Amino acid sequence: MKYLTSILILFTFLLFSFSTMLAKDITFVGSKKCGMCHKKDSAGKQLKIWQDSKHANAFKTLQSAKADSIAKGKAVEDPNCLKCHATGYDLDAKMLGKDFKIEQGVQCETCHGAGSGYKSKKTMKDHAKSVAAGMVEYKDQKAVEAQCVTCHNDKSPTFKAFDFEKRWAEIAHPVPKK
Ligand code: HEC
Ligand code: HEC
Ligand code: HEC
Ligand code: HEC
Repeated sequence: MKYLTSILILFTFLLFSFSTMLAKDITFVGSKKCGMCHKKDSAGKQLKIWQDSKHANAFKTLQSAKADSIAKGKAVEDPNCLKCHATGYDLDAKMLGKDFKIEQGVQCETCHGAGSGYKSKKTMKDHAKSVAAGMVEYKDQKAVEAQCVTCHNDKSPTFKAFDFEKRWAEIAHPVPKK
């Protein structure tokens, strides 16, 4: 009996160390990496759609006189601006891959989750595996909207109104049906 308990404790310990090890391994790779496989017209050119959207420019927007005047200081150094205008600004450098650049603003991984775990082709082709490896799953349109309004809300100093359906149509980037 005692023997069994020790084995159980050891097993739980190993499982725990293994899962924290995995968690540590997940890093933000940056939109450029995602774009390597998501740029062809035939696959839906998600990279181009994102680059042409204001999300790709959200950090650069903070590098303006207008932004500094809203922030009453350096907007690019203000966490109260960065939290909606950039990905990963508050993370340890260990969590950021070598191609990750904060200048890319609101990136693929802001909405899809840090990608080092799911970005391989084999994993990406399998929805369940991608989710298990850290990809965010959206159950329905309500869940998508809920994600948008974490930033598109009246905490934004320049907020007007957010019409989800209209705004989503402007940045939607589906994989074309075969
Ligand atoms: C090595 C190539 C590759 C890389 C790198 C890659 N993807 Fe993918 N991704 C794919 C393939 C292949 C699919 C399957 C759909 C398709 O055929 O276009 C896919 C599917 C997806 C889907 C839909 C998955 C689903 O099951 O709903 C999302 C979202 C996605 N990728 C986001 C990303 C993000 C974000 C990154 C960067 C962190 C990334 N991808 C990097 C190849 C890649
Ligand atoms: C809660 C999220 C959020 C916070 C916090 C936030 N922003 Fe924004 N910001 C947005 C969104 C969303 C937009 C896009 C405007 C829209 O579509 O409603 C935006 C747009 C802007 C724009 C361009 C729009 C324009 O009228 O010129 C500037 C400049 C800007 N923000 C500066 C700042 C500064 C400076 C801070 C910090 C003091 C800040 N933002 C904090 C979400 C936020
Ligand atoms: C991490 C915060 C964040 C999230 C999440 C987010 N956005 Fe944004 N969005 C921004 C910021 C910041 C801007 C303004 C960027 C700028 O002007 O530089 C913006 C701008 C936009 C614009 C351009 C607005 C304009 O005035 O032209 C659209 C469209 C948009 N977002 C749609 C969406 C949709 C749809 C979702 C959900 C799927 C979403 N956003 C999720 C932060 C966010
Ligand atoms: C503002 C948030 C946001 C950003 C930024 C963003 N996406 Fe998405 N993406 C979404 C949402 C939401 C969906 C739809 C999920 C759903 O309906 O299941 C989606 C869907 C996808 C799909 C699957 C489409 C399909 O038809 O199955 C791919 C692939 C994808 N995104 C890749 C990317 C890549 C690559 C980037 C960066 C170049 C990116 N996304 C940037 C929010 C975003």
